[in-house]
Amino acid sequence: MATRDTDWDGVRLHVVTGKGGTGKTTVAGALALALATAGKKVLLMEVEGRQGIAQLFDVPPLPYEERRVAVGPGGTDGAGGDVFALVADPESALLEYLEMFYGMRHAGTALTRLGVIDFATTIAPGLRDVLLTGKAAEAVRRKDRSRGRVYDAVVMDAPPTGRIGRFLNVSAEVSDLARVGPIRGHADTVQSVIRSPQTVVHFVTVLEEMPVQETLDGIAELKTLDGIRAGGIMINMARPLELSPDQLRKAAAGRLDQHQLALGLKAAGLDDGENLAVALAVELSQQAKTAIAQRELQDRLAAAGQPCYELPWINGSIGLGGLYRLAAALRQQRAA
Ligand SMILES: Nc1ncnc2c1ncn2[C@@H]1O[C@H](COP(=O)(O)OP(=O)(O)OP(=O)(O)O)[C@@H](O)[C@H]1O
Ligand SMILES: [Mg+2]
Repeated sequence: MATRDTDWDGVRLHVVTGKGGTGKTTVAGALALALATAGKKVLLMEVEGRQGIAQLFDVPPLPYEERRVAVGPGGTDGAGGDVFALVADPESALLEYLEMFYGMRHAGTALTRLGVIDFATTIAPGLRDVLLTGKAAEAVRRKDRSRGRVYDAVVMDAPPTGRIGRFLNVSAEVSDLARVGPIRGHADTVQSVIRSPQTVVHFVTVLEEMPVQETLDGIAELKTLDGIRAGGIMINMARPLELSPDQLRKAAAGRLDQHQLALGLKAAGLDDGENLAVALAVELSQQAKTAIAQRELQDRLAAAGQPCYELPWINGSIGLGGLYRLAAALRQQRAA
């Protein structure tokens, strides 16, 4: 099987964060698809219980169960792989954990009756997070006899930038709380996965001031959390304006040659070339100003020192076709 070099060879847990609404779920889905080539098996995991993945892949709401939602793109390096999806919620993760570690069968019914589940979810938010990151760590480490690692990669559609540091660091806090016992052991295992070279945190952003600033702040915050590595910066919904820097400056300053524009429009068969040229120059000037501002934001992102990738704006609804296009863009840029 041919192997390609990617920027994240050796990474098996891809945590995808970003400011709300910038496309975390979409990009996480595209990344999972991009990784699911050459027979690879990828788990795409959602932790905020909003069924965003089901919507994205246009499948019915997902239970707490790993289900195949898509086949990865086949290519020169072999057949497509599989994308499985899981909506992880803390209650189910807790029950699974109790069953695994204490052999408590049907723990669910008994615990629901006792109200233990409410305790876990409302009283101890730190425990909620450790159960969710714990589920991701478990999927990363899971093995079976025939195949070895069950998943080649796990992609997590994670909480937004403002909460990501705490979310990932929380099992360190739980480790501090519980000095001995299985909870301590569990939290330590989770941290050993999250703080290993197997894990990176990617930031999704669009080229606007606020999400870019959040991305830079998020990367800086990770640096203070010893051993949690930043990954790539995924610049989503990119709509590059195909003008040279010189043309861009002229357009922004309203110094485009309107006579030339009018001639071009006439040549294209548009009668009212003169008036159109005026309107077009105004429009272009606006777009050029935006593009110049965006290039500055791009430079600021590049200065953070992480690889930057661009995902194109997809017109209309994304759909599976759009997701494959985004996945292809990620692969071309070696993000996967
Ligand atoms: N590359 C793209 N081109 C066009 N539209 C996009 C692109 N990426 C995402 N979108 C659209 O933007 C909207 C937000 O995307 P998405 O739900 O992935 O964001 P999110 O960051 O997960 O949001 P939330 O913070 O609510 O979880 C959706 O309608 C999605 O279809
Ligand atoms: Mg989302």
